[in-house]
Amino acid sequence: MKISIFGTGYVGLVTGACFAEMGNEVLCVDVDADKVAKLQAGEVPIFEPGLENMVRSNAALGQLRFTTDILAGVEHGDIIFIAVGTPSDEDGSADLQYVLSVASSIGEHMSGEKVIVDKSTVPVGTADQVRQAVSAALTERGVSIPFHVVSNPEFLKEGAAVADFMKPDRIVVGTSTENGARMLEQLYAPFNRNHDKIVHMDLRSAELTKYAANVMLATRISLMNELANLADLLGADIEAVRRGIGMDPRIGYHFIYAGTGYGGSCFPKDVKALIHTAQEVGYEARIISGVEAVNADQKRVLFDKLSNHFAHDLQGRTFAMWGLAFKPNTDDMREAPSRTLIDLLTAAGAQVRAYDPEANEEAQRIYADNSAVEVCTNRTASLTGADGLIVVTEWNEFRSPDFVELKNTLNTPVIFDGRNLYDPDYLRQLGFSYYAIGRSA
Ligand SMILES: NC(=O)c1ccc[n+]([C@@H]2O[C@H](COP(=O)([O-])OP(=O)(O)OC[C@H]3O[C@@H](n4cnc5c(N)ncnc54)[C@H](O)[C@@H]3O)[C@@H](O)[C@H]2O)c1
Repeated sequence: MKISIFGTGYVGLVTGACFAEMGNEVLCVDVDADKVAKLQAGEVPIFEPGLENMVRSNAALGQLRFTTDILAGVEHGDIIFIAVGTPSDEDGSADLQYVLSVASSIGEHMSGEKVIVDKSTVPVGTADQVRQAVSAALTERGVSIPFHVVSNPEFLKEGAAVADFMKPDRIVVGTSTENGARMLEQLYAPFNRNHDKIVHMDLRSAELTKYAANVMLATRISLMNELANLADLLGADIEAVRRGIGMDPRIGYHFIYAGTGYGGSCFPKDVKALIHTAQEVGYEARIISGVEAVNADQKRVLFDKLSNHFAHDLQGRTFAMWGLAFKPNTDDMREAPSRTLIDLLTAAGAQVRAYDPEANEEAQRIYADNSAVEVCTNRTASLTGADGLIVVTEWNEFRSPDFVELKNTLNTPVIFDGRNLYDPDYLRQLGFSYYAIGRSA
């Protein structure tokens, strides 16, 4: 099939590469000329396991192409995916300007029947707005061309995006026309051979399903963080509690790790957007608002422990920070807890020696003008001259460090572990001061 994809970020690029891998002819369109030039040269601008190989091999076969030419993008695809960003606006609502601009472009340039697929995460009712934007552009041209709007939200996880896309748990397809549904069934057939994973529904339900999934997961994280803070006050160990509840099959182990709060490009903005959507229809979303408030506070918890340890005098101190990405296996630092911590530390007069296995380049870009932050090439280098170690992201390489070397290198043997990676008793035996989340320290 001929497919066009607008937006070549984490979602658009993975979607394009995976559809090309299945033998479709894919044209990816982006307004970011630098990004497109890199992709045309075989360079993948984001880190995502397995993506680079897939992009290169399909580009070599001519099945995956990249362009900034909007007209070519609209002409090429019988199915056109909108996978552009939907960032938070100032009031927390999802900013739809990029989605609607693509919709208008489609209406301005289309010359034959199209299936237009909203893959971006968009508030309930956006499919209607997309339909109106396309219709308005067609009316302006004085032409009438059939088109179908489909909602097909994406559930991939950064860090496992290719694997998730190739083996989805479910494929949600929201439609109001038979044609739209049939085209998507055909397109997704190769991902669906083992058993049918498509869940058909109306457009509004499909749009809400995406928010429901993210808010459910964010709620588990905030609830666990709230329990962890309580465990600290009560002298309990949240890791024991986690195991004690995770074994219950009604609860399970996923998304019940206490930590430094959720980040990334999805949970924070999607939680905010759903609160805003609720307000618009006169409903006060109390649980969801609580999830957001707990998360905002949680991003401070490790800093407060650190500040207490140093009697609130951080001026001139230096800290090693391991992990900058909002989670392992990605280079994405959007809304990452590391950023809140770095802001708090540097505002208190401390220096940060930061290291991440994949996000160093992104960190260098973000902190280019901040002399209080030095991005280090490896984890050992980050420890030089540090008064303590802060662990923010649970990359594998941070799980079993050489603690003796660590103790010898740090100015003072203190670890602030935002991911509960280490054994508190063992570290205390070794002579470390050890602070974790919800482990009574
Ligand atoms: N990142 C994730 O893990 C994830 C998972 C599921 C859903 N989503 C949703 O998918 C959407 C995209 O997310 P992302 O992380 O890929 O975003 P991103 O910011 O990485 O990429 C968006 C891309 O769209 C491009 N763009 C903007 N306007 C454009 C236009 N008019 N025409 C063509 N390209 C344009 C930008 O230049 C950018 O390259 C968002 O709505 C997000 O909520 C993201």
